Amino acid sequence: MVLTETLPPAIQTEDVTISFNGLPIVKNLSVSFPKNKLSVLIGRSGSGKTTLLRSFNRLNECLEGSSTTGRILVTLNNSQHDIYSGTISCEELRRRVGMVFQTPNVLPNSIRNNLIIPLKLALHIHGSEAEARMEHALKQAALWREVKDRLNRPATHLSGGQQQRLCIARALVLQPEILLLDEPSASLDFHATRTIEELLGSLSSDYTTIVVSHSLAQAQRLADSLYVLSSGELVQTLSKEEVRDSAVMQQTIENIL
Ligand SMILES: Nc1ncnc2c1ncn2[C@@H]1O[C@H](COP(=O)(O)OP(=O)(O)OP(=O)(O)O)[C@@H](O)[C@H]1O
Ligand SMILES: [Mg+2]
Repeated sequence: MVLTETLPPAIQTEDVTISFNGLPIVKNLSVSFPKNKLSVLIGRSGSGKTTLLRSFNRLNECLEGSSTTGRILVTLNNSQHDIYSGTISCEELRRRVGMVFQTPNVLPNSIRNNLIIPLKLALHIHGSEAEARMEHALKQAALWREVKDRLNRPATHLSGGQQQRLCIARALVLQPEILLLDEPSASLDFHATRTIEELLGSLSSDYTTIVVSHSLAQAQRLADSLYVLSSGELVQTLSKEEVRDSAVMQQTIENIL
């Protein structure tokens, strides 16, 4: 007999509205994202993708004039947290729900310290344990081979694609359960984009991954499910099979444009 366990979603939003200075940007959104799958969010520029992504680890609160209503439930270590109700601190939430931004934002420091500093500050881990975790995260991010002989060089001397993988390693080193990536290959060329995509594909069985993308072709290559946002509302959700069905995707393109 096969027992099928229904896992709670990694993230579930209930009637979420996010506004800036009273103007709703994300509107009454109820959606859930499955655990250990790669979900892709797509939509026109200004449709609220980044705003929605930032709400999953309470980053909008760092921006003036923002307000969030509704509930966002995040499952971490098998227990569900209503993240705006104060049952989990922002520091803990942001460590366990890591975010990578569109433009690589490496620390103006060595490659090594880009990972050692967050380990020290967030987890108080130093010395040989920190070194071991750094090496592991760089391997996970498929960057170790390229940087192992120059760990003390400035991170800003890396290429754009390497810097983006370093940012992914910096999120991974804190051992998150959920990874949020906002157009992680937007500023990269074809080869660097494919490297990032391969990396995301390999991480997605161990981490819940939510990726904002502008590219339907990228969504077709990556998505276990696809969510289409339009003017802050969820207008379509597609399964993996539907994402790979060209007739369905053609209709999706028409809806987005
Ligand atoms: N800090 C802010 N203050 C005021 N308005 C904001 C702020 N951040 C975003 N907005 C507004 O929210 C709307 C959605 O922005 P958001 O960045 O979420 O869109 P997006 O879908 O990610 O777009 P893009 O594809 O261009 O990145 C825009 O109209 C934007 O002006
Ligand atoms: Mg955006």
